[in-house]
Amino acid sequence: MNIKPLIIGDLIAKVPIIQGGMGVGVSLSNLAGNVAKNGAIGVISAAHPGYMEEDFEKNTLAANLRGLTKHIKKAKEISLNGIIGVNAMVAMNNYIEHVKTAIEAGADLIISGAGLPLNLPEITAGSSIKIAPIVSSAKACKLVLSYWKKHFNRTADAVIVEGPLAGGHLGFKKNNLDNDIVNFDKYVSAVIEEVKNFEKDFDKKIPVIVAGGVFTHEDMMRYLNLGASGVQMATRFVATHECDAHPNFKNAFVNCKKEDIELTISPVGMPGRAIRNKLTETLKTQRVKITKCYDCLIPCNPGTTPYCISSALIKSVKGDVENGLVFCGGNAYRIDKLLYVKELIDEMMGQSLAQPEIII
Ligand SMILES: Cc1cc2nc3c(=O)[nH]c(=O)nc-3n(C[C@H](O)[C@H](O)[C@H](O)COP(=O)(O)O)c2cc1C
Repeated sequence: MNIKPLIIGDLIAKVPIIQGGMGVGVSLSNLAGNVAKNGAIGVISAAHPGYMEEDFEKNTLAANLRGLTKHIKKAKEISLNGIIGVNAMVAMNNYIEHVKTAIEAGADLIISGAGLPLNLPEITAGSSIKIAPIVSSAKACKLVLSYWKKHFNRTADAVIVEGPLAGGHLGFKKNNLDNDIVNFDKYVSAVIEEVKNFEKDFDKKIPVIVAGGVFTHEDMMRYLNLGASGVQMATRFVATHECDAHPNFKNAFVNCKKEDIELTISPVGMPGRAIRNKLTETLKTQRVKITKCYDCLIPCNPGTTPYCISSALIKSVKGDVENGLVFCGGNAYRIDKLLYVKELIDEMMGQSLAQPEIII
């Protein structure tokens, strides 16, 4: 089977891979720019992209919007004609400001999950930016796309179906996770079928992209054969030299074992997958005192939340992988070394076995 490019409206990625957005600070301009430079789609996370700005602690929102603009522009410089997306979580406070800033800074695509991005067409109206919801089931897919059709006469430019092996927050309940893992390919097929209804309504192709646990060339081919147009991968991109996180964060992926990967609680109210450490052990029995609120998540109440997720993610990306939260996908234990982005993409494409077919 020839590997076809991933086409999202007028965007053409010769490698059908989206590098998943990873907050806080794990996927910024260096990773996204290098992924895009190598023919796939690079994605910058809009979760505190300004955490390295000098005024971040005092003027968090201003620092984040500035940081987001800087990183989009820098990624575009690295990749020239590459495709750069932004991952903005619906659960974030100031979601609208981040999406608008991404448009102004020249991003090509907005990917939104951690909630249903019901108003995304309204926020992006008048721009040519592409929009892609992240869903975990055909039901959620139908709900979002029906809402968009009814209220905005608009549909998605792509749909990402994210499964239970993904990293970060999961759109699945903890008590049924094993079952969801077994059935995930069926969920993918159901989403592909659901999307076909909207393709007919809008007379346009809506690529479905599969995320969560994609590790090998064979995994990617399995989903392409099922009818997907591409895959979204994050965990494997953490273990690259170009990833924006501290080396300790990357090495935590290289060194972890299967039994070190567990589900933990999150102020978002969804389970999150992370590498076991001092923080996740502490959270099993007690709260971690909040010293500062970054006003980051709508569902979070600083008075009752078990810990501050912003502060935990900032700690880990800066290298404190014991007291910080190290989100990872279910397959992180299979990583044994760091690669360059190009090596990873070549491996995923089956080395030189398959040359991407470029449609001009
Ligand atoms: C370290 C890390 C951080 C992540 N952060 C986010 C995030 O901020 N927003 C989001 O929508 N998804 C996030 N994800 C999910 C990824 O974008 C991606 O869809 C998923 O992890 C794919 O599965 P894989 O890691 O098995 O390849 C994160 C994943 C990881 C590993």
